[in-house]
Amino acid sequence: MKVLGINAIYHDPAAALVVDGKVVAAAEEERFSRRKHGKRPLPWSAWELPELSAAWCLAEAGIRADELDAVAYSFDPALMTTPEETGLFDDGDVMRKRYAEMAPDFLAHALPGLDPAKVRFVKHHVAHAASAGLAAPQRDNAVLVLDGRGEAHSHLAGRYVDGRLEVLAGQSLPHSLGLLYEDLTDHLGFLRSSDEFKVMAMASYGKPRFLGDLSELVRVTCDGGARTEKIDFTEFAPRLGKGDQWTEDHADLAASVQQRLEEVLVDLARWVHGQTGDRVLTMAGGTALNCVANTRILAESPFEEVWVQPAAGDAGTALGAALHVARELGEDTEPMPGAALGRGWNDDEIEKVLRTAAIEYERPDDVAEVVAETLADNGIVAWFQGRSEYGPRALGQRSLLAHPGFEANLERMNDVKGREQFRPVAPMVLLEKAPEIFSRGPIPSPYMLFVHDVAPEWRERIPTVTHVDGTARIQTIDPEASPLVHRMIAAFERRTGIPVVVNTSLNTAGRPMVDDPRDALECFGSAPVDLLAIGPFVVRRRRSTLA
Ligand SMILES: [Fe+2]
Repeated sequence: MKVLGINAIYHDPAAALVVDGKVVAAAEEERFSRRKHGKRPLPWSAWELPELSAAWCLAEAGIRADELDAVAYSFDPALMTTPEETGLFDDGDVMRKRYAEMAPDFLAHALPGLDPAKVRFVKHHVAHAASAGLAAPQRDNAVLVLDGRGEAHSHLAGRYVDGRLEVLAGQSLPHSLGLLYEDLTDHLGFLRSSDEFKVMAMASYGKPRFLGDLSELVRVTCDGGARTEKIDFTEFAPRLGKGDQWTEDHADLAASVQQRLEEVLVDLARWVHGQTGDRVLTMAGGTALNCVANTRILAESPFEEVWVQPAAGDAGTALGAALHVARELGEDTEPMPGAALGRGWNDDEIEKVLRTAAIEYERPDDVAEVVAETLADNGIVAWFQGRSEYGPRALGQRSLLAHPGFEANLERMNDVKGREQFRPVAPMVLLEKAPEIFSRGPIPSPYMLFVHDVAPEWRERIPTVTHVDGTARIQTIDPEASPLVHRMIAAFERRTGIPVVVNTSLNTAGRPMVDDPRDALECFGSAPVDLLAIGPFVVRRRRSTLA
């Protein structure tokens, strides 16, 4: 059974392919089109499909569009209500609904040979739920979808038993924790539906002194819902434009909303646990990328384990919709094998690109040793290995690496990427060494979706990755799942005594993550990076002697 999943309606268009119950490919359109987030989530862009990523998924599996058993589209226009009924009064919803209704014909045009009758609409939050509950390694789990909005709801609470979803609660619009956070993102001068993680970073600089006011305006209900009143943020801090300098008031507002969000999510998680008694909670939806909140849910709810879909935003609904429809068609689906589900190149293909670029390169005995040497000498390394990541985080496939032992490296990394200086960078750590250095968050933590406390004796040793509040958003490296990355960090530890490297996504500001070898060369060529490790090859930067 071959099912292609499509996310297109709002942002982060993506495609995923499930064959015989196995996830064989998943990728975001931005990695192909080189347009960050694929498109803006505007009503008139709702028709745009992830054409390039969908075509790649099929090519990767060697199947034609006419061989697909179904296409799962992660939004169901029949479930939309009117702009007045949602309470959002968004007239663009009329256009959105019409474009979604026409998606089968658009898809048949984009994928020649596809029968439009094979397209199935999947409720947006069911697609998110499946991306967590069916993709997680732990079968039978409770699930929380924490989103901005779907057709008419903002969240879903439920559970999976034997691969079947039982919905326990949902919150209807206009109440939405995700939209509330998006509104704050906009108020602070950042890009809505894109820069929410910057608000989370800013929150750690503030004090939650507006929490009392927010407790009235944002609250849980006893039936598994969460109510959000319209908040006038100017009462707390003036509105900022893009690039404006923020003040203590802005940081305090971010801290207050962040803390209230955490409290409400912990209450929601407790409610779901009360209904199900399950051991494991799985989560998806854009708000589930809030790693500070995720950590509190794990610490303060009765769930023993919390698993978050690495592509928790809308991109992940392509995968969830495909898994859900595969189940509907009677297939027994398997958990996702990891996040490295995108494009990959073999050694010959990579060497061909290097030759075409007429650039000097070497093939060392072990690329891991050369990278470790460069990092130990405080060089910056662009790391391009294996299949690219599905989801917004660099997880050791397309990464920018550095030595974590120098405080100045935070500014250096943010300069390389041309981004705000308050943004933290994250550590990758050998799995077996993680408990010595990091606590509070879960270990293993393979997808960087939780925060951990850095042990006091290590804060001075790894200042680059220790945030202002003494935390770090870690990725643990399992030697079996990621042998090359593990060998590289182990080689770095032999030289420095530190089993940690700095890891941030391989891109420059405002651009999508590097995906193909040419993107890697373009990024390397334009940023002050000392070494590019691409497959088994390395390219060294010869520093200009000109001032
Ligand atoms: Fe969503």
